[in-house]
Amino acid sequence: MHSELLTFPKDFVWGTATASYQIEGGFEQGGRKASIWDTFSHTPGMIEDGATGDVAVDHYHRYREDIKLMQTLGLKHYRMSLAWPRIVPDDCGRVEQRGLDFYDRLLDELLQAGITPYVTLYHWDLPQWLQDRGGWTNRSTVDAFLSYTQTVVHAFSDRVTNWMTFNEPWVASYCGNLNGAHAPGLKDIPTALQVAHHMLLAHGKSIPIIRSEAPHVKVGIVNNLAWVEPATTKAEDVKAAERWDGAYNRLFMDPLFKGQYPQDMIDHFGNAMPVILEGDLQAMQAPLDFLGINYYTRRLVAHDHTEPFIQAKQVYRSYVPRAEFEEFEVWPEGLYKVLKRVKEEYTDLPLYISENGTTLLDAISEDGCVHDPGRVQYLHDHFAATHQAIAEGCDVRGYFVWSFMDNFEWGFGFSKRFGIVYVDYKNNLRRIPKDSAYFLAQTLLSNSIKVHSL
Ligand code: FCB
Repeated sequence: MHSELLTFPKDFVWGTATASYQIEGGFEQGGRKASIWDTFSHTPGMIEDGATGDVAVDHYHRYREDIKLMQTLGLKHYRMSLAWPRIVPDDCGRVEQRGLDFYDRLLDELLQAGITPYVTLYHWDLPQWLQDRGGWTNRSTVDAFLSYTQTVVHAFSDRVTNWMTFNEPWVASYCGNLNGAHAPGLKDIPTALQVAHHMLLAHGKSIPIIRSEAPHVKVGIVNNLAWVEPATTKAEDVKAAERWDGAYNRLFMDPLFKGQYPQDMIDHFGNAMPVILEGDLQAMQAPLDFLGINYYTRRLVAHDHTEPFIQAKQVYRSYVPRAEFEEFEVWPEGLYKVLKRVKEEYTDLPLYISENGTTLLDAISEDGCVHDPGRVQYLHDHFAATHQAIAEGCDVRGYFVWSFMDNFEWGFGFSKRFGIVYVDYKNNLRRIPKDSAYFLAQTLLSNSIKVHSL
């Protein structure tokens, strides 16, 4: 057996990621009012296990303890998001000082622990008062986002030098407005496409605002990209895979880097395409400092004339392992391919893997530890795929494992565990680092992984 050490570039950023609604709780604390996720999770039947984010994993009260744990593990970078409804809770547009104060304390605590924050402006918790006015279908939500952005960038850019505008516009627009699995729970194709357009527009328009408020900061967006392959060589499957790639990857990448929506998608969606005003596409193309990529899976795609959106469905192979979150294949090679594709087709910007991770049926063992060799292997293989892309010229600067700790996994509630730190929901939410947390700690210390080959 031959073993090789794969060393990452000097200053490679190793970190973990979370999102406000998934971890904070404190849903009525400090003047916070409802977000669309509060409304959605409080609607019976919407969340698999009936859970809500009212308490989530109580990070709102335990952030000091959580940051201490990050520090103990040696983590030096942390991607988090701000809860817009803590900062602009109601429809008069007033800024809630107590919301800003919470993040003030949190950011100070991180910096004191030697941890650099990477802050996402929108990780899906739209204030409910904006949804009551049409949410992202209403163009005025773009303006509301810009004014919230200006407020927080002004308040925190002395300490936050890496900003991410939107997390996964496709999931936010399609899962929320096309298949109803996420808040606000709508099911309408033109609505979903209009929402996507307004999110990309809000992203683009926020860039000059961020730059003028804080010329020293770096700013990017986070897109989730999948590697797409046709299920067979049949022409109808090949076309279905192209449509999948068009609707889920290209529709969100082309406006950012090519200044246009993909022509095949314009043709496919026809009248369902959003209202696009003059200047919108130009605004969306605002130059960025980096691109965040969330990668979870390959999508193997077959034609399905009954599927209303793009007449395509995902299929699986019995010999390809899947995460416990069964929609996702475990397919590290796809990450390598996505990175190469982004470089070849879209941009030479610095890239971050802003999320990658997996679910397992984690449990506390008799020895009191949580052993998750499956997650360790998963991360190891995805780190190796990233290393390969870097070796071939992709400028990947960092890697944020999803997630720092188990949390409220949207429509699945607490039934899916993505954390490298276990949260004991039965015992006062105590935190127990899983083996994968120690694996990440060791990887970042050596800035390398070991791979074995025959
Ligand atoms: C991504 C989300 C993140 C988490 C992971 C598992 O789509 O950005 O909040 O739910 O999936």
